[in-house]
Amino acid sequence: MVKGRKMAAAMVLGANGRLGHAAVQAFAAAGWQVWAQARQAPRQPLPKGVTSVQADALDLPALRAAAPRLDLIVNALNPHYTQWDALVPPLTSAVIQLAEATGGTIMLPGNVYNFGNQLPPVLTEQTPFADTNAKAGQRIRLEAALADAARRGVRSIVVRAGDFLGDSGTWLDLGLGRALKAGKVTHLAPEDVPHAWAYLPDLARVFVAVAEGRAQLPAHAVLHYAGLTLTGAELHRLIEGAMGKPLQRASFPWWLMKLIAPVAAMPRALLEMRHLWLRPHRLDEARLVQLIGSVPHTPAEQVLRDSLAQLPGVTVPGTPVRSATRSAA
Ligand SMILES: NC(=O)c1ccc[n+]([C@@H]2O[C@H](COP(=O)([O-])OP(=O)(O)OC[C@H]3O[C@@H](n4cnc5c(N)ncnc54)[C@H](OP(=O)(O)O)[C@@H]3O)[C@@H](O)[C@H]2O)c1
Repeated sequence: MVKGRKMAAAMVLGANGRLGHAAVQAFAAAGWQVWAQARQAPRQPLPKGVTSVQADALDLPALRAAAPRLDLIVNALNPHYTQWDALVPPLTSAVIQLAEATGGTIMLPGNVYNFGNQLPPVLTEQTPFADTNAKAGQRIRLEAALADAARRGVRSIVVRAGDFLGDSGTWLDLGLGRALKAGKVTHLAPEDVPHAWAYLPDLARVFVAVAEGRAQLPAHAVLHYAGLTLTGAELHRLIEGAMGKPLQRASFPWWLMKLIAPVAAMPRALLEMRHLWLRPHRLDEARLVQLIGSVPHTPAEQVLRDSLAQLPGVTVPGTPVRSATRSAA
């Protein structure tokens, strides 16, 4: 923040979540006045000056009472993976109403689901969406609701990124949790398929930089953040490097997911998104570079060390052991 200028005000919805937590840290560090919304108490002490708002994201009066005027609203809400159909639309409407009431620009972490199950290898802001499966449709409708609200004066920015790294409960954990303790890395994807990842502290800093440059953007803008693009083999080498020893390869039991999918919602949801592990893809961030110049990219080695250190009970040489567990992405 420029000295002498009024502090910009941001509310982070879902502040106890992965992106929400990182966004609170990044906006506070950049000198923003931050309100951190969550239904529960903060999972870690909040940075100095951040105000905790313990309320439901649907409770508009409570949120407005906490912060009547906002410059920015980070929508880091994420209902359970199997309940998006029922819960994303009302949460999105609530966020739009909050933006209408407070004047805040909405920022949403987009994902690559919108491109459907035949997504091309390079994803730009012009790549067409494809409503080929339920989750693609849900994300397409979420972003369409923001674009629609922009026509009524509610500004919004989608920063699209790959799968998160750097907190617990990510896709990385799905392949690593118990396997790593047995000296193995479980691979979700074939060895040679590039997959897009985003390290949360970097992505959160991108959010801050984009928020600070938002005056240059149209009423509804979409920007891609490239993050890290890694093949299974590259990821394996990085994990070995972080753990300081060779590790065996194991395949994720997709066959088991198929077997139990008829009776279990989560395996069904995982199978629905399996194409993301089979189709090479990366995000092109040329437009983001144009807006913010230098884009935060922590070296992959450090990202993996930090991400593995988040796994409960996993000891990464030279980093402390964590114990908290969180739900899957
Ligand atoms: N995870 C990824 O790899 C990834 C990649 C790209 C984009 N994204 C997108 O980024 C956004 C945030 O994802 P995330 O992984 O950071 O989220 P997350 O950690 O799974 O959850 C964020 C927060 O959402 C709130 N929430 C969950 N269910 C709710 C409900 N029914 N009603 C109200 N609030 C609810 C919870 O807050 P409280 O319980 O504290 O209220 C939770 O802490 C989502 O739109 C996601 O799709 C995620």
